[in-house]
Amino acid sequence: MNNKQDQQIQSASDTDLASRFPADFLWGAATSAYQIEGATREDGRGPSIWDRFATTPGCTFQGETGEVAADHYHRMEQDVALMAEMGLRAYRFSISWSRIFPTGTGEVNQCGLDFYGRLVDTLLAHNIQPVATLFHWDLPAALQDQGGWTNRATAYAFADYAARVVEYLGDRVGHWITHNEPWCSAYLGHGLGIHAPGIQDVQAAVTAAHHILLSHGLAMPRLRALLPPTAQIGISLNLFPVYSVDKTPGASERVEREIDFRNRWFLDPVFKGHYPADLFSFMGCQPPEVQPGDLELISAPLDFLGINYYNPLRVGMTPVKDKKGGVRHDYEVLNMSASVPSTAMGWEIYAQGLADLISWLRYEYVIPAILITENGAAFDDCIEASGRIADVRRLQYLREHIEVIGRSIQQSDLAPVQGYFAWSLLDNFEWAEGYSKRFGLVYIDYDTQTRIIKDSGLWYASFLALYNAQH
Ligand code: NOJ
Repeated sequence: MNNKQDQQIQSASDTDLASRFPADFLWGAATSAYQIEGATREDGRGPSIWDRFATTPGCTFQGETGEVAADHYHRMEQDVALMAEMGLRAYRFSISWSRIFPTGTGEVNQCGLDFYGRLVDTLLAHNIQPVATLFHWDLPAALQDQGGWTNRATAYAFADYAARVVEYLGDRVGHWITHNEPWCSAYLGHGLGIHAPGIQDVQAAVTAAHHILLSHGLAMPRLRALLPPTAQIGISLNLFPVYSVDKTPGASERVEREIDFRNRWFLDPVFKGHYPADLFSFMGCQPPEVQPGDLELISAPLDFLGINYYNPLRVGMTPVKDKKGGVRHDYEVLNMSASVPSTAMGWEIYAQGLADLISWLRYEYVIPAILITENGAAFDDCIEASGRIADVRRLQYLREHIEVIGRSIQQSDLAPVQGYFAWSLLDNFEWAEGYSKRFGLVYIDYDTQTRIIKDSGLWYASFLALYNAQH
C-alpha cells in the first residue's frame, strides 16, 4: 500500500471517529499555573508552597523549579495563537491563588487578576472556551505558615479567593473547576510528602482532604450566587479502574479497599454526602474531624465531574516489607511497568480502563455529566534533524482513549461525556519529576523557549479539523 492510500484509510477512520461526538463537545487541552507560567516573582505574585518545596534541596528532579517553566506568563498571546492554530475549542488552565492574594487573604492584587482577564479575553477572541481551575496545588506559602490545608481556616480563605476570582471573570468563563486532584494535594502532599508541602503524616492527609473538600463545599453556594445559571461548576478527580490479577476473595477485598482509597475518598463525600465506611481503618488512622453541616455543603449538586485518567491499577499477591524490616506476602497494587506497555512515568497504557471507569461511575453514582479534564502520556521525545517530533506512541495513546470515549458516548445517556482535554498543551514542570517528563502536544525547547507542535499535536489538530468541518 502506498502512503497516499494509507493516509486515506487513516483519515477515513478519523472522520468516522469525529462523527461519534456531539456538536458542542469541548475539545481542548489542559495546563496548570505553576507548571507553565514562570514569572514567579512578577507583578506582585506571592510565594506558593511549590516555590518553597521546589527550592528545598532533594525535593524535585535535579532541584528543578517552576521559576521560568514554559514562560507562559510572557508568551500567553503566542500560546493562545498556537491553540487556535490547532483548532482547540476549549482550554483548561488554572489560576494561581498567590497572584490574586499574595499572602492568601486580604488585599487583592489587581495585576494578578488582570493577567487572567487578558488570557480569557484572548481565548474568547479566538473562539476558544475558557475552563478555569481555581486550585491546582499552589497554595500561598503564607497560608502554609498557618497550617495550610490542615487548618480549617484555609477552607474559608479558599471560598473568599474563589468568590473574588469569579466576581471578576464569571461573566466570561462558562466552566469552573474548584479543585484539581485533591487526592494528590492531600495524600502526596501530606501523607507521602513527595509533593508540597512535603509532610509525611497520614492523619494530616486525612485532615487536609476534609478541609479541601470543605473549601469546595463552602465555595459552591458563593459561586452559584455570583455566576449566571448557565455556568457549569465541577471538581476534577484523579480516578482509577482497579483490577485484580487473580480471583481470590482476598484479592477482591483488597481491590475494594484500593477503590475506597483512590476513588471513593473524594467521590463519596461529593456525590453521597459521607466518607467510605472502611477507608480510615484501612489507612490506619482516625476519621477527620467533621463538623455538623460539612457534608451537606460538600455534597451540594455539581454540574459535572472532571475525570483525570491516565492508567489503571492492578492488585495481586506480592512480597511487601513489614514494619520490623521482614518480608511477608500480601495483596498490593503491583508495579506492572516491566510487563505491560507503559509510559515514561511507568504508568500502564490501557484505554479500555477509561471505559470501565466511566461504566463504574455511572453505576455507583448519580453524575450529571462528565468532562475528561486530563488524559495523556509522557514519553522521551526526540527532535529529528528536520525539527520534527515523531511521538507516535503519544499519538496512539490519545487516539485510543478518544476512541473509547466515542464508544462510551454511544453506549449510554447516563453521565454523558461532554468534553476531552489532553494533558498537556505544552511540555511543562512535572512536579517532583521536574522537566524530565514531557506530556505536551507541543514540545518546548527550554533553552530558547521555542514551541514545536509534535506529531501528536498535529494529529489532534487534523482530527479537530475533521470534527470542526462536521459541525
Ligand atoms: C495530574 C495533574 O493534574 C497534572 O498537574 C500532572 O502534570 C499530570 N497529572 C501528569 O502527572
